[in-house]
Amino acid sequence: MKKASIAPSLLAADFGNLQRDVEMVNASEATYHHIDVMDGVFVPNISYGMPVVKAIQKHATIPLDVHLMIVDPDRYLEEFAKLGAHILTVHYEACTHLHRTIQAIKALGMKAGVALNPHTNVSLLEDIIQDIDVVLIMSVNPGFGGQSFIENTYDKIKAVKAMITRKNSSALIEIDGGVTTANSQKLVDAGADILVAGSFVFKSEDPTTTIKDLKG
Ligand code: DX5
Ligand code: ZN
Repeated sequence: MKKASIAPSLLAADFGNLQRDVEMVNASEATYHHIDVMDGVFVPNISYGMPVVKAIQKHATIPLDVHLMIVDPDRYLEEFAKLGAHILTVHYEACTHLHRTIQAIKALGMKAGVALNPHTNVSLLEDIIQDIDVVLIMSVNPGFGGQSFIENTYDKIKAVKAMITRKNSSALIEIDGGVTTANSQKLVDAGADILVAGSFVFKSEDPTTTIKDLKG
């Protein structure tokens, strides 16, 4: 049976013990550290910026999956490359020239991800799916951890999966928001490759075991 890659979202970590939490994820079955950067403009919340990403990078021994919830992300691509981002994901809704942004991310040596808000139809990726390394489907409205999973996500995953096959793309499908062991298997069965989980991991009794359980 196919197993998902798990990307615990450090947004739900204890920032007073960030090194401890990064090291816990390093030593777990997780594949990536998921890093949520919010600017208070694209989303109604501000999370953290470069100094915190740098601190995470200093202790990380697994790749960084950086999710930019910011307007005009082009301004910061180079900086995130220098901070060691492995996957750099921008929002479809935040990019006027998405094709150019994706090429710039790849030219800087990173994998290019495109995130879709819950209201954004997946068909909008039709002309760009072959250029994308990761499609991140938001299964909550971006901006906050701890929200409930939107059920329509399964249909979106199936539609992206069909598009990837039809267009012969190698893009991975990542799901972000409200992921728990109650929906992880169903998400993988629908076609998800990477599962992001914040609250469910960090608010659990034993985060290392929770990551293992999410992996299935
Ligand atoms: C939300 C972020 C998510 C968030 C997920 O805007 O993109 O990565 O941390 O948190 P949970 O897993 O708690 O929904
Ligand atoms: Zn995220």
